Amino acid sequence: MNSSLGMINAFDPSAASALDADEKEMIARRQRVLGPSYRLFYQHPVHIVRGEGVWLYDKAGRKYLDAYNNVPSVGHCHPHVVQAVARQMAVLNTHTRYIGDEVLDYAERLIATFPAVLDQVMFTCTGSEANDLALRVAKNATGGTGIIVTRLAYHGITETVSGISPSLGANSPLGPHVYLVDAPFSPAQAGAAEKVGPRFADGVRTALAQMEADGVKPAALIFDTIFSSDGVFADPPGFIAEAIAAVRAKGGLFITDEVQPGFGRTGEAFWGFLRHGIEPDIVTMGKPMGNGYPVAAMVARHEVLADFGARSRYFNTFGGSSAAMAAAAAVLDVIESEKLQDNSLKTGRMIQDGLRDLASRYPIISDVRGAGLFIGVEIAKNADGRLEPSSGIAAAIVNGLRERGVLISASGPSANVLKIRPPLPFGRAEATLFLDLLDDTLKWVVRIATA
Ligand SMILES: Cc1ncc(COP(=O)(O)O)c(C=O)c1O
Repeated sequence: MNSSLGMINAFDPSAASALDADEKEMIARRQRVLGPSYRLFYQHPVHIVRGEGVWLYDKAGRKYLDAYNNVPSVGHCHPHVVQAVARQMAVLNTHTRYIGDEVLDYAERLIATFPAVLDQVMFTCTGSEANDLALRVAKNATGGTGIIVTRLAYHGITETVSGISPSLGANSPLGPHVYLVDAPFSPAQAGAAEKVGPRFADGVRTALAQMEADGVKPAALIFDTIFSSDGVFADPPGFIAEAIAAVRAKGGLFITDEVQPGFGRTGEAFWGFLRHGIEPDIVTMGKPMGNGYPVAAMVARHEVLADFGARSRYFNTFGGSSAAMAAAAAVLDVIESEKLQDNSLKTGRMIQDGLRDLASRYPIISDVRGAGLFIGVEIAKNADGRLEPSSGIAAAIVNGLRERGVLISASGPSANVLKIRPPLPFGRAEATLFLDLLDDTLKWVVRIATA
């Protein structure tokens, strides 16, 4: 690799298209009324006005290939979901304190996608609420308070779940009794696939030993089975089992956060944890569940829920409402009728093959990993003969793709892992276009880096 690639530290601003007057004014309005907490994607943010399938359109009518958004997982504005919600809103939209078919029909259908032991569901509106509830349930069931999370986990925004979301950074402190474990290595980083599971389990055992030394009883190990904010780690299937056994041996539960990998995205299975052949105690889900309609849930074993339910009343005003259930049922219809899990597997494999081919031509790609349509591409530069993560090059690629009409993002400890996670109808034609435009972007990045 050309060592002068090490000179890219930040995206070259001259390479980004310029903001027009309207865009400048809208960004100023955002700062005025939304305050300082919000962040925009891309050096030149995109003003999207319409979406359809895997495409987004800006106000000038330019189309962008969406290779990033997992919430509209069955495609932006899918007519079957839109019509199901509109129909339900016109008839009835009420809550779970009345007997209703919508919530019962959907609950039975959702539970049927799980192993038989996971047999009860509670509805929320967001993934954050589902994780917050899961922590309350786990603490109640175990009598413990210790929680183990991965070093760059993200589980949501409430006081409690931001306290188990170290990816939010130093200004968002960890909660009490929260213990960190390193994210797994990929097989390439570990040197051998067999080393991935034991190394991850060692980290969990160390956290458990620290808990014991601190006099803290474990409640749960929680992670997202695709490790999306840690940098995308999927393989080898089954590698998480040893860590889960370690936490159970000390009386803790395993909560799998399926907000990212759930609903067919990883291709080989409907749920990320099923790829690993394990049975969790609690599962949380959200984002793709309603294709943009806010609906989320927590599924658990009845024995885990029994005491919590006996002692505490649960009512969530909008969670499980008739319209939310109509949206969620329509999403399941489309995943089934359009065979989107299978498409995720096939298109995902095609993209990973194409990315490995690019990696053989562009040494700045140091690892390609993922499952189905959840793919991570690690970007590194050569620093004195060593490979070093490069957020600068990754940002240049993300912004360069945006200029070419393709939307992705980056994650991982050094923000150097390209995150490719399109709506599930992403097909062969879109995959080919994506790979061609990435090739073109990589060519450009290498050119500016070596100029
Ligand atoms: C893994 C994971 N868990 C939980 C959440 C929180 O979900 P929500 O934004 O719906 O509260 C997110 C959101 O990005 C997530 O990625």
